[in-house]
Formats: sequence, C-alpha cells, structure tokens
Amino acid sequence: MATMITLSRLPFFTILFLIVLLPSACRCADPDPLQDLCVADLKASISVNGFPCKPLQEVKSDDFFFDGLSKEGNTTNVFGTNVTSADVRVFPGLNTHGLSVNRVDFAPGGLNPPHIHPRASETSVVIEGKLLVGFVTTSHVLHSKVLKAGEMFVIPRGLVHFQLNVGKGKALFLAAFNSQEPGIVILPTTLFVSTPSIPNAVLTKAFQIDAKVISDIRSKLGS
Ligand SMILES: *[C@@H]1O[C@H](CO)[C@@H](O)[C@H](O)[C@H]1NC(C)=O
Ligand SMILES: *[C@@H]1O[C@H](CO)[C@@H](O)[C@H](O)[C@H]1NC(C)=O
Repeated sequence: MATMITLSRLPFFTILFLIVLLPSACRCADPDPLQDLCVADLKASISVNGFPCKPLQEVKSDDFFFDGLSKEGNTTNVFGTNVTSADVRVFPGLNTHGLSVNRVDFAPGGLNPPHIHPRASETSVVIEGKLLVGFVTTSHVLHSKVLKAGEMFVIPRGLVHFQLNVGKGKALFLAAFNSQEPGIVILPTTLFVSTPSIPNAVLTKAFQIDAKVISDIRSKLGS
C-alpha cells in the first residue's frame, strides 16, 4: 500500500519526533474541550473522565458564575488556614476548560501544610499579607520566596509545596490551576489520618520515630 511505503521511508528521527515530541507540545493538564460549552451535569448517572455535559437548552448564564470565593474561610482549625475551592465540583461551568481557582485564608501564623496537586500546576497571587511559599523538586531542592500583595509564585504539577503566613496579620492568596479539578493530597493528614490507618510499622520505619510519636501526631490532627 502506498501509505505504508511512505511511512516506512520516513527517517527514524522524524518518526521519533512525531511519536515523542508532538504529544508533549501540549503543556495543558486537562484534555482540550471539543465544543464551546459542556456545563457539568453533576448528577448524571453515567460516569466519564470529567462530567457529562448538561443539555445545551438547559444552560444558563448562572452556570458560568460563581461567588463562593467572595467569603473569607474560617481559619479556626489546627493549621490556621482555610482553602475554598472553585473547581468543577462546585462550579459546573468549568467542565472541560482545564481551569479552576482556590482562595486560601490564613490566620496569623497559619500554615497551608505540605501538599500536592496531582493533576495541575498552580500559580498564585498574594492579595493580602506576607507568605513564605516553597516547593521541593524531585531532586530534593527547595525553591522558596517570601511574597507580599501582588506578587506571584508558580508551583509545578505534582511537587510538594506549602505556604506559611509570616506577616503580622491575616493573609490571603488566590491560586489558579490548569485543571478543572486539580485534587489535593495533604501530606500530614494523608499519612497520619487516613481510613483505615497506614500501619505503624510503615510510619515508624519511614520517619524513624516510635509509635508513641505517631499516636501523638494522630491525636493532634484529629484522629
Ligand atoms: C473553611 O471555612 C468554611 C466557611 O467558613 C467552613 O465551613 C469550613 O468548615 C472551614 N474548613 C476548615 C477545614 O476549617
Ligand atoms: C469558626 O470555626 C470554629 C471552630 O469550628 C467555630 O467555633 C466558630 O464559631 C467559627 N466562626 C465563625 C465565624 O463561623
């Protein structure tokens, strides 16, 4: 067949380019949309990667509006922070657009503890206060910076990062993600207060601590 002959004559590097480089030319985290609108039908009975679209004739302007980030989160908790998410689970108009935003409020001294977003890179802008932000690369290098209002930082997808309020008062930042549902893995709670618990034998060895320290951490994190 003519096509097959043509393909077999392509130089090796051209084929390598087509296979390896072309897909990676897309730096997006979520797949591209295939239509203008696909407002999430959060109650759909079928499950797909993302959410099915609600019928176009039922789409309203309100589907593209969300005011949930206008209110300050309650920071009276063990970390002194509160994350309010505007992701597809609460803002259906985001479905298929590969975007979402978080609001993070900090009490004085509040910490957004080391965590990972498995499905998105993040860029955040400080709105109020002073924050120490940092992430650690897979080669264990910490990149960190103290930011004040109007300043930004970027966190590459999947890397462990944190934000600590180092100012005198409250602090607030907004974080944008290239995913409609970036997900969050909070390391202290993931490791110490999962259900069921990770066996002590794993944690004592991993952190080189005894079981007493583990139960101490568990009780302080509310388990
Ligand atoms: C964050 O704030 C909201 C609104 O005040 C509150 O309902 C929620 O329980 C808070 N979350 C945490 C973890 O404190
Ligand atoms: C914030 O959360 C704490 C602890 O759950 C609660 O006691 C307090 O009433 C809440 N504050 C507001 C303003 O809702």
